[in-house]
Amino acid sequence: MSPRTTDMAPWAAADPYTAALRTGTGPLFLRRSDGWLLPLDIERWCARADAVDRDVLDRCEGAVLDVGCGPGRLVAELAARGRTVLGIDVSATAVERTTSLGGPALLRSVFEALPGEGRWPTVLLMDGNVGIGGDPRALLARAAQLVCPGGTLIVETEPVDVDERAQVEVTDAPGRPPGRSFPWARLGAPALLRYAKRAGLRATAQWDAGGRRFVSLSTRNANRSADPPKSPAVISSQWPRNASAEWPVVRA
Ligand SMILES: C[S@@+](CC[C@H](N)C(=O)[O-])C[C@H]1O[C@@H](n2cnc3c(N)ncnc32)[C@H](O)[C@@H]1O
Repeated sequence: MSPRTTDMAPWAAADPYTAALRTGTGPLFLRRSDGWLLPLDIERWCARADAVDRDVLDRCEGAVLDVGCGPGRLVAELAARGRTVLGIDVSATAVERTTSLGGPALLRSVFEALPGEGRWPTVLLMDGNVGIGGDPRALLARAAQLVCPGGTLIVETEPVDVDERAQVEVTDAPGRPPGRSFPWARLGAPALLRYAKRAGLRATAQWDAGGRRFVSLSTRNANRSADPPKSPAVISSQWPRNASAEWPVVRA
């Protein structure tokens, strides 16, 4: 098992997260070792895509890979629009919920082998998912590998200027005894832009909506002649040929 796989395991095994995904309700927090709490917006994640989400999705071109798709509201919305989309998540409950909404999803870490690497026109890191793995430099480098030349990575940042890495755990109550911690990161837009530059990504748009902040990044090479993911050349048994409720939960 790679270190990255170990890092993601606590999300997959976090009982409070699984329970919250099943009920669609919180409270749920990321808790730092010093006790600081970051509320997680589980109700919004488990609801349908809202106007802010739909605006983000309107900006997506071509096939979309939603990294850390959670319960799948974005994947489901894109699938309902008839778009080629794939969600990936390390939580089996998240993946099951996504597929139950008619959205294709794989039980897979972003750091493991993925279908269509280097051919995705749009990759999403939403809802704070730029924190995955606790190493933004590594995550953005990985995301840049997934996007096709000239493709787009849309990242939701913190609405404040922050560049933080910390050990956290998922908890449903501030007073619970410490559980299993894992590395996480929080980035505001300025920090994201610094890391993005090092990963060979340039900002093409920034916007605020509904109290949330987003940055659109592009790979530097605008050669878009590479096969898009839905090309037969890259269709594998795991490839979402279309938005289908039958798309299986695939274990890594
Ligand atoms: C902050 S939550 C965001 C939830 C989600 N965007 C939504 O719409 O509900 C982070 C998500 O990323 C997933 N995750 C954590 N580490 C991951 C990894 N290495 N690869 C893929 N997904 C991961 C978690 O299981 C969780 O669903």
